[in-house]
Amino acid sequence: MTERTFSIIKPDATRRNLTGKIIDRLETSGLRIVAQKRMWLSQKQAEGFYAVHKERPFFHDLVKFMTSGPVVVQVLEGANAVAKYREIMGATDPKKANPGTIRKDFAESIEANSVHGSDSAENAAIEIRYFFADTEVVG
Ligand code: CMP
Repeated sequence: MTERTFSIIKPDATRRNLTGKIIDRLETSGLRIVAQKRMWLSQKQAEGFYAVHKERPFFHDLVKFMTSGPVVVQVLEGANAVAKYREIMGATDPKKANPGTIRKDFAESIEANSVHGSDSAENAAIEIRYFFADTEVVG
């Protein structure tokens, strides 16, 4: 089933100039980038995006990290895109990520973990709408 997921290449990855290497992983896996922009999130944008985590102890640091440098937000399309992207990202904690995954190979820590990917098709739709107008997504 062709579906879409939402991705963020995080500040630890843009800082180390890894955008292209991560994009190569996405495209090699069969995912297609149908929308993409580089931006520097405001505190308000980061807090809104991660609102589901606002009671978690790591929320403050997470927002601080996500606003510490540029990010690249993307819409990825492909067969089972949500599950496919989660598979190639690897576990949230890079110490637990499988070999060959983006987080195993590039992430610095559970916080600076290089990429974000939606956890369900429902959340993907919400996250895509948070950053992109319909006209900016070109399949
Ligand atoms: P992400 O997929 O962007 O969603 C929430 C983020 O919170 C997660 O990736 C991690 O980068 C970050 N985070 C920081 N600390 C933790 C933690 N202890 N458990 C889960 N996520 C964490």
